[in-house]
Amino acid sequence: MNLGFRYLDANFIAPELFDCGEPELNSFLRESAAHFVKQGLSAIRLLIDLDNNRLVGFYAISPLCVELSRLSAKQREQYNVPFPIPSWLIGRLAIDKQYQKQHLGGALLLDAMKNIRKRAENGAGALIIVDAKNRRIKQFYKKYGFSTLDSCGGLKLAAPVVPAE
Ligand SMILES: CC(C)(COP(=O)(O)OP(=O)(O)OC[C@H]1O[C@@H](n2cnc3c(N)ncnc32)[C@H](O)[C@@H]1OP(=O)(O)O)[C@@H](O)C(=O)NCCC(=O)NCCS
Repeated sequence: MNLGFRYLDANFIAPELFDCGEPELNSFLRESAAHFVKQGLSAIRLLIDLDNNRLVGFYAISPLCVELSRLSAKQREQYNVPFPIPSWLIGRLAIDKQYQKQHLGGALLLDAMKNIRKRAENGAGALIIVDAKNRRIKQFYKKYGFSTLDSCGGLKLAAPVVPAE
């Protein structure tokens, strides 16, 4: 399989065939993705199967601030600032059902983390945040170095933009 990444632009028309199994994410792609890009609300990256030009998956990233109250005492001590922590959100990440369980979700997530790292070199940002839909998806993110935001104890996870040495 030959795969390629590209950014979604404002003229994007979502392929009818795309189905990741989550109606909310399918309809985001169809109804809102191009609008989000046009308005500067998210950058959206597409993974394409170059052999047949099919959309394999996508993710959205946007900047956000993490309130200090969401961090553990140790993290607050580490950052040692009185304001929210500039961070990045991977808001939506999905792989078409036909392409799932082939490690492409992992490839998408690693691409998102790499791109955030690149942005942070010029635009700052300390944490990458994801909102797992459920406990099973939480396990998926944990495989890639995310851990639960301590004071939430729920489905919100974080990883450092620059991994600790
Ligand atoms: C979650 C999703 C992106 C995973 O994509 P995928 O291509 O099937 O996952 P991968 O093949 O890259 O899996 C990578 C690893 O995560 C694990 N994993 C994948 N999906 C998982 C799940 N639902 N629960 C637990 N572990 C999971 C895999 O077992 C694999 O582990 P391994 O390396 O030990 O074999 C995909 O299932 C999807 O699009 N789901 C619907 C949309 C969704 O829920 N998105 C998450 C929004 S929070």
